[in-house]
Amino acid sequence: MKNEKLRTKNFNSLLRPEFCILSSTFWAPKEIIETSIDWLELNEKSKILDIGSGVGKFCVEGARISDASFTGVEIRKNLIEEANRIAQGLELKNVQFIHSDIKDVDFSAYDSFFYYNPFCEHLAIDEVIDDSLEFSRENHRMYEDVVFEKLEKMPPGTKVVTYNSREFILPGSYRMVKMSKEGSLVLWGKE
Ligand SMILES: C[S@@+](CC[C@H](N)C(=O)[O-])C[C@H]1O[C@@H](n2cnc3c(N)ncnc32)[C@H](O)[C@@H]1O
Repeated sequence: MKNEKLRTKNFNSLLRPEFCILSSTFWAPKEIIETSIDWLELNEKSKILDIGSGVGKFCVEGARISDASFTGVEIRKNLIEEANRIAQGLELKNVQFIHSDIKDVDFSAYDSFFYYNPFCEHLAIDEVIDDSLEFSRENHRMYEDVVFEKLEKMPPGTKVVTYNSREFILPGSYRMVKMSKEGSLVLWGKE
């Protein structure tokens, strides 16, 4: 169990204002993260990847309540810097962030995944984090296909939590295990 000081600081209060204003649209709510962590039944050997980790909220909140190892991959450098600043300030040892395109990440190092609609900006009309990426329907499709193929190659027992990602179809080898929030939060397990 992590100490009281680390457990009680509100994540949003740690964010720089320019990232805090994005919270309600782009960073997962705390109760969603807590439910996800609970569903994943993690232990200290578990390795979780947050696909598109933003300012690191899922990984930081997760690492406060679990001894599992949390990794976030994020394409935007300024978000990685913010995530690292917060994780280091809280002295969390079981969190790391990788500045990379998800296309280039090896999924085989992980056993569980968190997927909060990482490519939604490609379909957004006005709500985007910034204009540093090239948004298009083609890119949206391409990225979903990339993640689909990487998940398909994972071994039985792999777990995925999807949040607000109803359009994302997982490979047929994944079965829905749990669902809440009227289907917006789903735990999938590979058979
Ligand atoms: C909806 S936010 C979710 C952030 C975080 N998972 C959370 O729950 O708080 C999606 C994130 O995915 C990132 N992203 C988009 N495309 C990506 C890519 N190709 N590779 C890595 N990250 C990507 C975005 O920059 C954004 O920060």
